[in-house]
Amino acid sequence: MSINQNIYSEFYLEEGMTFLNNGSFGAAPRTVRAMQEEIRLQFERQPVRFVQRELPELLRSAASTLGDFIGARGEDIAFVENASTGINAVVRSMIPFLKMGDEILTTNHVYGAVRQTLIYAAECTGAKLIEIDVPFPIESPEQVIMAFKTAISENTKFAVLDHITSPTGIIYPIENLVAVCKQYEIAVLVDGAHAPGMVELNLDSLGADWYTGNCHKWLFAPKGSAFLWTLPDHQAITHPTVISHKYKMGYTEEFDWTGTQDFSSFLSIPAAIDFYNNHGGANIRTKNRALTLEARNIIAAAWNKPYPAPDEMLGFMAAIEAPVETAGTPEEAVKLHDWLWDNHRIEVPVMPFDGKLWIRISAQIYNKREDYEILAGVFDKKGL
Ligand SMILES: Cc1ncc(COP(=O)(O)O)c(C=O)c1O
Repeated sequence: MSINQNIYSEFYLEEGMTFLNNGSFGAAPRTVRAMQEEIRLQFERQPVRFVQRELPELLRSAASTLGDFIGARGEDIAFVENASTGINAVVRSMIPFLKMGDEILTTNHVYGAVRQTLIYAAECTGAKLIEIDVPFPIESPEQVIMAFKTAISENTKFAVLDHITSPTGIIYPIENLVAVCKQYEIAVLVDGAHAPGMVELNLDSLGADWYTGNCHKWLFAPKGSAFLWTLPDHQAITHPTVISHKYKMGYTEEFDWTGTQDFSSFLSIPAAIDFYNNHGGANIRTKNRALTLEARNIIAAAWNKPYPAPDEMLGFMAAIEAPVETAGTPEEAVKLHDWLWDNHRIEVPVMPFDGKLWIRISAQIYNKREDYEILAGVFDKKGL
């Protein structure tokens, strides 16, 4: 048995499939899920004592542990169920500060749900949403910076920028983009949905106004565990999407209680960080990235496709153009995805982007080279 097979069984992923989509929802190991179950039981045994006496301290202690991991102070970290909730909290908090004529910037690689949230904010305020065209295939991070700089005007008030893009799986030069925002006094929210666990984070020195990230994608935490980091200056105006007892009583107080819920995902984050560190820590980043590049090379060679992004812009995901005749519609993407699963038990996302279909592979510690060889060879077979 190879090392990866041993690691595969530390997760609940079923046998008999080729799972190349850690990127969408992540995978939580058995040990972390066991800790989560323990926390749930703690809540059940004496719910009132748990909520009133134990929970506040437990949440703040988890925030402090997470802070050490992402280079931030615990008091600047609020827990949210997912990046969507983090994005919504910030965008909705910005609504009173936006008006007709203001411009909100994002890029064409934005995650679909985030685009909708920004459309909502634009409709509520009369501000204009501008989606900057960042090319894909892309040759260098400088192209992102150039495209962004060119789109800035005196009306630009707010930018929502990906750290790692969803449809195309590329790492944006976020430090530079945030620095440009600071230079032009543009408030910036970074969508780091994919970042924790994939890239090293130092939020205190990044200089963003807000940063949201998922711990359930690449950091092994249970589903429904994410955070919102807020610059201290903005904490008084940043409210959760659910307003509850602690409205205006302090940033962490407001976010720590938004109604009764299952807090176990948030409280399992320290166990997930332990798992991450016990399985290599920074080494995970080196190995997954090396596997991603190797996989991209194998697949691009088999399908006779060019590399659409330079190595320096890749982390644990890579998109390669699908070797099929297509107009790149969402319907065709669904069809190809379903064909891969129904006929070959390969789970991999097919992304329609700019008139083409892209197959976005993921590499997590349970993946191995052979997984990608299976995908690489699948179009040789008949039946599509
Ligand atoms: C870039 C990006 N932003 C936001 C999200 C939303 O994450 P969640 O479903 O955890 O809210 C995703 C999910 O894949 C994403 O890729």
